[in-house]
Amino acid sequence: MTDQELCQKATDMLERAYCPYSHFAVGAALLCSDGTVFTGCNVENASYGVTICAERTAMTKAVSEGHRDFVRIAIAGRSEDYCVPCGICRQMMMEFAPDMEVLCLNGKGDYKRFTVRELLPCGFDGTWLEK
Ligand code: THU
Repeated sequence: MTDQELCQKATDMLERAYCPYSHFAVGAALLCSDGTVFTGCNVENASYGVTICAERTAMTKAVSEGHRDFVRIAIAGRSEDYCVPCGICRQMMMEFAPDMEVLCLNGKGDYKRFTVRELLPCGFDGTWLEK
């Protein structure tokens, strides 16, 4: 799976976004180590806090299907700026894959590459609970 292919899958998911309140569509495509890809979109709710982001949709689908070994995630939006993950999504990425690559796209299809550790420096994880 090339970066371009993963980015295309994330971009395709923009059509599935359910975002009647923000009108801010987000799509995600998550690559696992065995090559499986899980996709996601944001799913909003009239009770705003119930909303789930595209990235967490994809990660939750993966974990619930027995996949935790995340390699790379592409995140697509339609904005001029690169679509970076929110804090809650960064924290969930930290739980499973602190070294995962995160490709953040803008509306033109350009992307920037980060690692989860770059996006969440000094992040909290399960090792703190053992200290
Ligand atoms: N959103 C995502 O799907 N991913 C992010 O990381 C940032 C925010 C969604 C949530 C909400 O539906 C909309 O974008 C506006 O916040």
